[in-house]
Amino acid sequence: MAPYSMQTLILFAYLISLVSVYSASSAVHSAGTPLDLSAFFNAKAASTGLNDSFADFDGSGRAYPVEYLPAGPSFVYEGINFALPPFHETSKFDTVRTDSQVISVPNDSESITHFQSFHALATAIWPASGSSGYQQGTLTFTFTDGTHETAGFVVGPWWSTNPFDGPITTPFHYANATLDSGHTTDYNVTSISYVSVRIPNAKALQSVTLPLDSTYINFFSVTLLPALTSAGPSQTADVQLSVQNVRSTTKWIGGADGSSADKVQQIEVTLNNLAPLNASSSSWLTATYNVSLVSDDIETVVPGIVKRLRSNDQVVVPVGVRNRVGVKSGTTAKVQVVLSSTGENQAGRDVKLEDANDWDVVAGIPEWTNGDASLRTHEAPEWGVYSVPAWAPTGQQYAEWYNWDFHNRE
Ligand SMILES: *[C@@H]1O[C@H](CO)[C@@H](O)[C@H](O)[C@H]1NC(C)=O
Ligand SMILES: *[C@@H]1O[C@H](CO)[C@@H](O)[C@H](O)[C@H]1NC(C)=O
Ligand SMILES: *[C@@H]1O[C@H](CO)[C@@H](O)[C@H](O)[C@H]1NC(C)=O
Ligand SMILES: *[C@@H]1O[C@H](CO)[C@@H](O)[C@H](O)[C@H]1NC(C)=O
Ligand SMILES: *[C@@H]1O[C@H](CO)[C@@H](O)[C@H](O)[C@H]1NC(C)=O
Ligand SMILES: *[C@@H]1O[C@H](CO)[C@@H](O)[C@H](O)[C@H]1NC(C)=O
Repeated sequence: MAPYSMQTLILFAYLISLVSVYSASSAVHSAGTPLDLSAFFNAKAASTGLNDSFADFDGSGRAYPVEYLPAGPSFVYEGINFALPPFHETSKFDTVRTDSQVISVPNDSESITHFQSFHALATAIWPASGSSGYQQGTLTFTFTDGTHETAGFVVGPWWSTNPFDGPITTPFHYANATLDSGHTTDYNVTSISYVSVRIPNAKALQSVTLPLDSTYINFFSVTLLPALTSAGPSQTADVQLSVQNVRSTTKWIGGADGSSADKVQQIEVTLNNLAPLNASSSSWLTATYNVSLVSDDIETVVPGIVKRLRSNDQVVVPVGVRNRVGVKSGTTAKVQVVLSSTGENQAGRDVKLEDANDWDVVAGIPEWTNGDASLRTHEAPEWGVYSVPAWAPTGQQYAEWYNWDFHNRE
């Protein structure tokens, strides 16, 4: 291999994952504790029309058309329950322009104190002189013992001329004629993105500090997913995993030989180990399990495999399924997630899966049709653009070994 030097490639795969949206949300499953943002709303995202001068999402008077925004009160995405802001109350602010706001976690005696992950509906904006693009932000988690941890995240632009999507989209937005070549309406698809960030769950969380104002990110809703504690869900098995989400995709597994006969639909199962970060390794999954979906409408052809999942961590497992005979593509199927032991590295541990039943998925991949609604469900395949970090001083080492050396210190 060529001795490339000074290559530091960015994690495009992560950006791609932010663009995917095809999801059958289930009314039954929605987890998490929404935080009350009402004291922090400081701008109006939803506009009633061209003459609505109160709406000013980005500081340049641009805004979303309210008639395309969901009315709520709640919105479920990736298995997470979000409280929607008052989009439809025309004289109330409905978005938080980030400016290092400190959002306290409820701390009365009934409240849950330990959390696994932070989830938000949010989007990147940019200054009047800037142009459409992603933003990177940093969250600061402050714990009741006075310690802090920071975590970075990336959030998609609220609109872009490139194909872009989000859990909530509108077909246009109101524009600023001065900045937008005389247009008062811009017909680029406009959206609200989803952000997910892990929280170290061993310590009680006191507050979350949003990013600096200079990062240009607007938040609509924030939900925290509780970890296993006395106040939250409790541990009932040696190893206790829980299903956060089961999501249908338009991706195929198999068919590598070019024939479509052995291609099966990919469904993604998101599993959490909600045990404390510092819990003993007996609470980690260290054995090999198959992940299958059981349903009247679909059958599992290629089980997912999970070999390891430590506490305070998450894994997304792809499972290959096929519609049963007579089940039409596009049917909503109710599925149950089942873990089955392959007998490897068991160590006699009792493994339990919570929230495994009654997930709705779209069975089968409907024929593609000419139009946005269909094309928008397309996702980058598993082999999509990705990269690894690489770097070496010129002439001294091969850059390709950077990642190996990084993880294998001698
Ligand atoms: C906006 O206001 C202008 C001037 O008052 C009026 O002529 C126009 O009809 C209004 N447009 C809409 C969409 O309400
Ligand atoms: C539109 O942009 C111009 C130039 O930045 C700015 O002066 C004006 O205030 C903006 N309009 C609104 C309604 O914010
Ligand atoms: C609970 O939170 C409030 C507001 O953040 C804070 O003033 C108070 O000291 C907290 N109480 C406890 C017991 O941590
Ligand atoms: C999309 O945005 C670009 C850049 O502002 C603009 O030139 C173009 O007209 C917009 N497209 C549509 C369909 O409105
Ligand atoms: C884990 O960390 C928390 C917070 O620092 C501490 O209270 C708890 O005792 C620790 N648990 C174990 C098993 O070490
Ligand atoms: C796990 O999946 C593999 C591959 O389909 C299969 O051969 C094996 O029998 C499965 N084992 C269990 C315990 O389900």
